[in-house]
Amino acid sequence: MELPPRPELFDFHGVSMITYFTDNWENVQNFQARPDDIVIATYPKAGTTWVSHMLDMLYSGRCSPERGSTMPIYERVPFLEVCSPGKPSGQRDATISNGSVEAADKMPSSPRLIKTHLPVQFVPKSFWEQNCRIIYVARNAKDNVVSFFHFDRMNMGQPEPGDWPSFLQRFQEGKMVFGSWYDHVKGWWEKKQTNPKILYLMYEDLAEDRGRELDRVCSFLGLSLTEEERCKVIEGVGFDAMKKNSMTNYSTDKYMDFKISPFMRKGKVGDWKSHFTVSQNEQFDKEYQKKMTHTTLRFRTEI
Ligand code: PPS
Repeated sequence: MELPPRPELFDFHGVSMITYFTDNWENVQNFQARPDDIVIATYPKAGTTWVSHMLDMLYSGRCSPERGSTMPIYERVPFLEVCSPGKPSGQRDATISNGSVEAADKMPSSPRLIKTHLPVQFVPKSFWEQNCRIIYVARNAKDNVVSFFHFDRMNMGQPEPGDWPSFLQRFQEGKMVFGSWYDHVKGWWEKKQTNPKILYLMYEDLAEDRGRELDRVCSFLGLSLTEEERCKVIEGVGFDAMKKNSMTNYSTDKYMDFKISPFMRKGKVGDWKSHFTVSQNEQFDKEYQKKMTHTTLRFRTEI
């Protein structure tokens, strides 16, 4: 398949976006949620696939264990706002994709698991009206930007990343697909303060102890697992298992060039240290302090 040129960023209601995520906007905004839908919301590269695979194992995977190794993650957990020819969206025939709204509409499973990268103000109102449960995953800014950089290098469906220093600068300015990391994590954090249907997870906590975080997720969702089921999920969502699994490592996505970088790249907390120079780190910290002054949200950049 011949790929179109890389997309350009543009301002969309105050958020940097590309057309792949805005072309189906009316349908996205009019999406009809069901009360038992579970949304996995994240800023890109914060652990979406990790938690998506975990939730799919918890629901459908318990009845059909082969599912996680036979069905790509984007079919098990459709990506709500994606809409582009040939881009995996959650539909079996990805080459005629009209977006994941359609895929989610047709999903037979219950509950439906739905992925989104939308900042909180863009979430279709039906999810709030139906009082759906939402799991938000956040990752510290430094590792998040490093992961995003390598993703944009290898994913031809993303804007040209440029070199590392310019990418880092654009990240600080919020000129990334889905906008500013700061606005995203803070916006969802504020929303969570008044909405008990939102569970706010940290990538670093998952990396530290995924069994403990799995228990938190199960308690939020009202699920109880046997010891055997619990062990299976913990093993299945390990980095090495997911890296090997072609249904979670995106190896079926034609936009990604795995010779440049794998999707399941390092899966570490603290990899930013091998990317940031001392002066980049100092500058970053200064900006970070300013942008995070009026929030109680705290991240760990090492564990
Ligand atoms: S996307 O494209 O926005 O959906 O990407 P997303 O899944 O949010 O983030 C990809 C990064 O998450 C890492 N990852 C994991 N880390 C540890 N353990 C597990 N199981 C795991 N699964 C995914 C993945 O490696 C990407 O991070 P980096 O730092 O680039 O390795």
